[in-house]
Amino acid sequence: MAERAAIILAAGQGTRMKSSLPKVLHKVGGRAMLDWSIDLARRVGCEQIVTVISPNAPELHSHVAGALGEDAIAVQERPLGTGHAVQSAERALAGFRGDVIVLYGDTPLIPSSAVESLFEALEAGAGVGVLGFRAEEPGAYGRLVTSYDGDLEAIVEAKDASPEQLKIDLCNSGVMAVRAERLFRLLSQVTNENQKGEYYLTDIAALARDEGAACKVVTCHERDVLGVNSRRELATAEAAFQERRRGELLDAGVTLTAPETVYFSYDTIVEPDCTIEPNVIFAPGVHVRRGSMIRAFSHLEGANVEEGAEIGPYARLRPGAIIGEGAKIGNFVEVKKTRVGAGAKANHLAYLGDGDIGANANIGAGTIFCNYDGFLKYQTKIGANAFIGSNSALVAPVKIGNGAIVGSGSVITENVSDNALAVARGRQVEKAEWASEFRQKKAAEKKARS
Ligand code: UD1
Ligand code: CA
Repeated sequence: MAERAAIILAAGQGTRMKSSLPKVLHKVGGRAMLDWSIDLARRVGCEQIVTVISPNAPELHSHVAGALGEDAIAVQERPLGTGHAVQSAERALAGFRGDVIVLYGDTPLIPSSAVESLFEALEAGAGVGVLGFRAEEPGAYGRLVTSYDGDLEAIVEAKDASPEQLKIDLCNSGVMAVRAERLFRLLSQVTNENQKGEYYLTDIAALARDEGAACKVVTCHERDVLGVNSRRELATAEAAFQERRRGELLDAGVTLTAPETVYFSYDTIVEPDCTIEPNVIFAPGVHVRRGSMIRAFSHLEGANVEEGAEIGPYARLRPGAIIGEGAKIGNFVEVKKTRVGAGAKANHLAYLGDGDIGANANIGAGTIFCNYDGFLKYQTKIGANAFIGSNSALVAPVKIGNGAIVGSGSVITENVSDNALAVARGRQVEKAEWASEFRQKKAAEKKARS
């Protein structure tokens, strides 16, 4: 297999997004569109990935530098067209002799199988491989002009197409595979003599044919090559991603009672035999293991839910929440950076932050881990089988021993030993008949005033 590299085009202005954030950093499924393209390139085995950006995009520059390193950045000084953009990456790929895939930074949902097929077409002897699709409305897309045997003869941009060519519904996705040497050699022959006055990458298809190379088309579904130019299209891409993930999880044995109301991230893992009730949101970094139940209106992010646990309704798991096997996190409970032991329960109204809760502990309603003093965060540790009475404030750092009981309404500032009872609240006093006397006195006072 030839070595593989990717060039990701992201030097466009993205003005239609009406955003101060560069277009390709807008997210689909919780991940920047550009990172979808980078991930795709990695999944098909690209060892070198070059991203083409414009000179005035500092945010994009640091994003790419962070993800791939400075060497992975190619700057296109002026936006003179897709062919010119690819040429801008030539220096970064100096010495590379293998196969190159050109991707866009604004087309996040391309399946890796399609790109794999393009590389395979090159390995089978094609000079150029192009990813095409049948468009519902071909509109402004470049048209793929093919011969009787399906080979690609040319790619014609809509603005340069004849009325006959405009009737073609097989369109160019923009994704193209070419051996590096051929790519840059042909690009040096491309001119800007066309309606837009741009250097078109697409012109290399006809040039490759002129030198006797075969050009192959690989097709995929239109929704898989959806490009994002506006917020409307961003929402469409998001919807397409969600629909795809819901379908995949249903097929994999997850029950979604109302699939269209559940939102996943690019990396959400839900194992078989889990049930997800309506209106649940999975932000990035969530892994839910077998047989767990995520009840309605819960929000999960950066959390691990072990087998057979039950979350919600109305629960919030924040980054670093680890919910043990069979544990229960109920309504209006927020868990952050806290391990909840197997079988432990926090059924209602609690904040559990920066803690560690032992197996089978019971956390009463209204328990708060007071983890922050305005400057630093501190740990709360609760032993196995401990029982925290309702409405208790545990002022961290603090440790509650195994099997200990904290009386309801306590403010706990000192460690509690194993199996002890700690009560930290005002003692109850009772004054017989005090209430009746009080009422009589007050009624008399009121009467005297009127
Ligand atoms: C391009 C294709 C067209 C295809 C369509 C699919 C060409 C000439 N046309 O058209 O056949 O159907 O995509 O969406 O290739 N970019 C740069 N620098 C530039 C110009 C563009 O980096 O100078 C980047 C853009 O950021 C974008 C991508 O290249 O990610 C495509 O550019 P765009 O101008 O949107 O191409 P289209 O005219 O839509
Ligand atoms: Ca476009």
